[in-house]
Parts: sequence; C-alpha cells; structure tokens
Amino acid sequence: MSAVESQQRVLSGMRPTGKLHLGHYHGVLKNWVELQHDFECFFFVADLHALTTHYEDPYIIEQSVWDMVTDWLAAGINPGSATLFIQSKVPEHAELHLLLSMMTPLGWLERVPSYKDQQESLKEKDLATYGFLGYPLLQSADILIYQAGQVPVGADQIAHVEMTRDIARRFNHLYGKDMGYEEQAEAAIQKMGKKTAKVYRALRKRFLEQGDEAALETARSLVREQQNVTLGDRERLFGYIEGGGKVILPEPQPLLTPSAKMPGLDGNKMSKSYGNMIGLREEADTVVKKIRTMQTDPQRVRRTDPGDPDKCPVWQLHEVYSDTSVKTWVQEGCRSAGIGCIDCKKPIIDAVLEEQKPIHERAQHYEENPELVRSIIAEGVETARDTAKATLEEVKRAMGLSYR
Ligand code: TRP
Ligand code: SF4
Repeated sequence: MSAVESQQRVLSGMRPTGKLHLGHYHGVLKNWVELQHDFECFFFVADLHALTTHYEDPYIIEQSVWDMVTDWLAAGINPGSATLFIQSKVPEHAELHLLLSMMTPLGWLERVPSYKDQQESLKEKDLATYGFLGYPLLQSADILIYQAGQVPVGADQIAHVEMTRDIARRFNHLYGKDMGYEEQAEAAIQKMGKKTAKVYRALRKRFLEQGDEAALETARSLVREQQNVTLGDRERLFGYIEGGGKVILPEPQPLLTPSAKMPGLDGNKMSKSYGNMIGLREEADTVVKKIRTMQTDPQRVRRTDPGDPDKCPVWQLHEVYSDTSVKTWVQEGCRSAGIGCIDCKKPIIDAVLEEQKPIHERAQHYEENPELVRSIIAEGVETARDTAKATLEEVKRAMGLSYR
C-alpha cells in the first residue's frame, strides 16, 4: 500500500463497555460518522482489550459487543461505507502482536502513562499481568495490521499512537532493509570523515531505536554543517537518519477528536460509573424524567430567586445543544429570575429527543433483526481479514518467516 493510500485509511476501536450513552455519541461516534464519508474506515470492537482488564469476569463481554455494535449502527455508522468487525475474529491482530512483542523494548511499555495510572485507579483488580502490560502493543498491532495512517482517539490515547509510531519506525529500521540505498548512504557517511561518521551513526541509532527526537534534530544539523558533500549525498544523509529502508509499516497519525467534554446530568463528565448519563437509545419518558429532575443552581431555591448559570449543570447542556439566542435567553432569564428552571430545561429536553429520533428509528430496525447485525459483522470480518492477512504476510517475510 502506498503512503497516500495509507493516509486515506482510518482505524479506530472501542472497548465493549455495554450500551453507549450520549457522551460516546458526542465524543466519538459523531466523529466516526463524519469520517466514514471522507476516508476508508475500519471500526472494530476491542474485545481482546476488554479481556486485559476483565479477565476474571469475561462473560459480560459478549452481550456488550452486540449492544455496542447496534449502538454504532443506530448512531449512523453505515456498513456500506465503513468496515465493522470484532477484534478477536481477526486473529491476525494477535499474531502481529506476538511478532511485534519480539522487538518491543520493555521500557517502552512501562513508560506508557496509562500503565501506572490504570493500575492505580483500578486497584481492586490485579493488573500486574503480562496482557495488561502489553495492551498498548496490542493497540499498535490493531493499527499497523491495516497500515492505517489516521487514528481518531481521545487525548488519553495519544501516547499509544505515539508508541505505535515508534514501533513502526523500529520495525522498518530492523526489517525494511533496502540494499542499494543503504550502500550509497553508508558510502556518504564515510565521506564525512571518521569522527563525524561515528557521531552521525550514534545519533541515527538513538532516533531509530528509541525515537529520540532531539537526536534527530542534532543529526540533521550535523549534516547541514558538512561543507564537502554533494547535493545527492546530502539528501541521502538526511533521509537515512529516519530509516531509509523500505517502509513496511507506515507511521500512523493521531486524529484528535475535536470534542468538548460532554457533561452528564450532574455537571461532571458523562460516564457510566458516575451514574449521570443518558443512554444513546434511552426511552423518551426516562430521558424527560432525568432532565426534569436534574440538579440546578443550588442557590436558586424559589422561582423568584435569581440564579447563576455558571453554577448549574443545565447550563452546560445548553452549551452543547443550544444556539446563541437560546443561550442569551437562559443567561438573562436565569440571572433576572425571568424564567423558571422548568422553562429552562424545556429546550434541552426537546433537543435531546430530537437528536435521538433518527437514532431510535435506525436502532429499531436492527433490534428487530439481530441477524442483520451478525451478518454485518461477518462481512466486516471478512473484509478486514483480507487486508490484515496481506500485511501479516509482508511482516513475516521481512522477519524471515516465509518458508517458501
Ligand atoms: N485502547 C482504546 C480504548 O481503550 C481502544 C482501542 C484498541 C483502539 N485498539 C485501538 C483505539 C486502536 C484506536 C486504535 O479506548
Ligand atoms: Fe440552571 Fe436554567 Fe435554572 Fe438557571 S434557570 S438555575 S441555568 S436550570
């Protein structure tokens, strides 16, 4: 696959955590729905990732998977434009993970911020496991097996994509040797003189093997300073710092999801564990009830008391759902006690129900035809496997495992 094709390919995954809520919709799914029009998209359920933390109680995973895929479809992910599949159904992810594990320095995994953080925050679980340590590498395999150039993720996942870039670079460096080019580059290095050559080699190694960006910069200025090299050699010396061999696994870019934090019913980030969520496919009557009983500015006890939207979680929902004129109406009406909280919540209720209408319609179709969801996944698995197998074959050949 060419670099340009790789840039056009998007891959992202989600852990199966059960039914999704509006936070997932605003934070991730709306973005996926847009991307599917402009890119070749692969979206998958990361069920193996779920096992890294739920290995003791895995039985909830299966139902979560089908609920989540139904949510994706309900949100408007179109199986005609995007490829949808389940990670463990494409065993090439696991095989690439194993192969990559051979060349992954332990320190890279131990350094990933989520490793220590999650062990701390999920103290009730024993996460001192091999699988948990390796899970960012499994994520690298997920990305690299499709040679995906773009990976939509939230801020907490950027470090994983960065590590994936390091893995790809190291892989290409170790196994992407292209002889003619290398010999020419080596000859150019010799021409710089013994001492400079030695420094250049050391810096290059530091960048290629450890992803040390400072070493890359220093090596570049070293080449820039050379007086007696030809233009061709200069180009070669620049390119060679960053590898210069064949690119078998292209380096992916994180595509930071452009979303504000979706507030929950209590003003904190919407999350299942906080119990402050509205389900993506939640029934209208409970949606209405939840919003009606939402906490407002605690200072505003009576209808005649003026309030302060900055101290009210309802206002945060206006920030997501309301246009400028409604927002002005809230600000003025609240501060002057011109409107009541019930009035204020009305446009939010309407907006959420309106947003959910097409979601419910699509969901109903899939809820009534669960076999349809199964067959969408079966088809996605097949498409994904074709791509994954092709990459894996190249990887194995590069690593000396072709046996022809
Ligand atoms: N680790 C991600 C999460 O916890 C899910 C995930 C797994 C993923 N593999 C991926 C996301 C590959 C993007 C690309 O949310
Ligand atoms: Fe909150 Fe609106 Fe009531 Fe003001 S009027 S306290 S913003 S719900």
